[in-house]
Amino acid sequence: MAKSARDEILAYEPGKLSELFEVEKDRSDSFVLEQSGLYFDFSKTHLDENLLEKFEKLTLATDLEAKREALFLGGIVNPTEGRAAEHTAERGNGNVDAVAMAKALHLRMRGLVEAIEAGAFGEIEHILHVGIGGSALGPKLLIDALGRDGTRCNVKIVSNVDATALAEATAEMDPTKTLIAVASKTFTTTETLMNAESAIEWLKEGGVDDPQGRFVALTANPDKALEWGIDESRILPFNENVGGRYSIWCSIGFPVAAALGWAAFEEMLEGAAEMDRHFRSAVPAQNAPVIAAFCDYFYAQNAKCQTRAIFAYDERLRLLPEYLQQLEMESNGKSVTGDGEALEAVTAPITWGGVGTDAQHAVFQLLHQGSHLVPVEFLASKTPGHDFDPAHHEALLVNCFAQGAALMAGRESDDPARSYDGNRPSTTILMDDVTPSILGALIAFYEHRTFVNAVLLGINPFDQFGVELGKEIAKQISEDGASGFDPSTKALIKAAGV
Ligand code: F6P
Repeated sequence: MAKSARDEILAYEPGKLSELFEVEKDRSDSFVLEQSGLYFDFSKTHLDENLLEKFEKLTLATDLEAKREALFLGGIVNPTEGRAAEHTAERGNGNVDAVAMAKALHLRMRGLVEAIEAGAFGEIEHILHVGIGGSALGPKLLIDALGRDGTRCNVKIVSNVDATALAEATAEMDPTKTLIAVASKTFTTTETLMNAESAIEWLKEGGVDDPQGRFVALTANPDKALEWGIDESRILPFNENVGGRYSIWCSIGFPVAAALGWAAFEEMLEGAAEMDRHFRSAVPAQNAPVIAAFCDYFYAQNAKCQTRAIFAYDERLRLLPEYLQQLEMESNGKSVTGDGEALEAVTAPITWGGVGTDAQHAVFQLLHQGSHLVPVEFLASKTPGHDFDPAHHEALLVNCFAQGAALMAGRESDDPARSYDGNRPSTTILMDDVTPSILGALIAFYEHRTFVNAVLLGINPFDQFGVELGKEIAKQISEDGASGFDPSTKALIKAAGV
């Protein structure tokens, strides 16, 4: 019987990385792709021409092309919830109705951003953005990355139900000059609503006469926001078919637009749109998200890597690993296919990471000599984010490239403790600069890579039922106490005096 593409990939014995460069002399060209201000170097992975062919077979077997079209055309790509996933429509690439809806809602959002700038709410210096998960991580990443040279207003993002976060954020804000943005796709998330309630109290105590009048809602459930007490004129709705972790492009991006200006927000959308067009049209061998997913699949399935690590060699991107943890692990951390069949394959690797060069002095020991094989992704920018001595930036880049080279080459020694096996894979993504447009393209690249991974595995990346059970049990304990639970849980509740 002919072997399936998956079996062939599982059985594939790749050459050593250093040998691949000898066989495929032009690897540093042929496994490099340039797109939207991003230089993707896949040459230090075990992907070679033979393996690429097998992956091309896998894309045919898994119907990647048709599924990609379904994503862009608003087909049901989220079967467990019977929904489309229309984040690309927010960037103008999607089905006509979804694109038209996104445009109209963007216009409404822009209107509110401009009204705030024009003083419709009096003097506003601060925005307190209350939201969690996908309703917080994107704005946090973008404002931290792009707002370093100053923002139009000071944005604080509070997600945790631990009010220490709220206390810390509000300590630096003047309530009379603050607007509160409640970001929640469902407008039912306990943490967010609790923080929003406490924010009302904070405004009242701070002498604001009409605290409700300072609230803006960013949601796909406007009725709930209305019910909660936010006036219709200050509700910025978005399409229900945009998933929480894919929602930075719609009104969840409101604080980004308010802090960085509408033009920057549009540039970010355009950068992402460019990546959409690339993903939609390029053949697999020239398609950055597709090639990246091939590497992910190979290391998880063939090499049995349980984790992958991302290191940002740029302070501006320090929140990227955290953002990607939700995107990749909430999307692909599943054990069944979209049809509910148990999967034999392992799914999303655990995504983790940090900031270079700091991480070199903390976790890189394991990457170079540990018994786990961890595919590493390096991110760096050609242009520095500061005006200090350019030697800093040079040192940063040199360190970044040195790590990739060292992981690959290794070094033998008579002393086993001083020996490095090498042959450890890495990918490097070099950005022209950290700009709204390039960051938009980078995030869209990761979204599409996550989607391709899901297609290759046959899973649905757009639901997240795994988070529901814990939520339900927390509710049960809050409402009915611990009586129905196991002895350990009961004892903990008693010990904490909850
Ligand atoms: O609990 C998980 C989750 O539903 C995420 O998918 C989502 O990003 C987050 O909670 C917040 O949800 P919401 O935007 O509806 O408040």
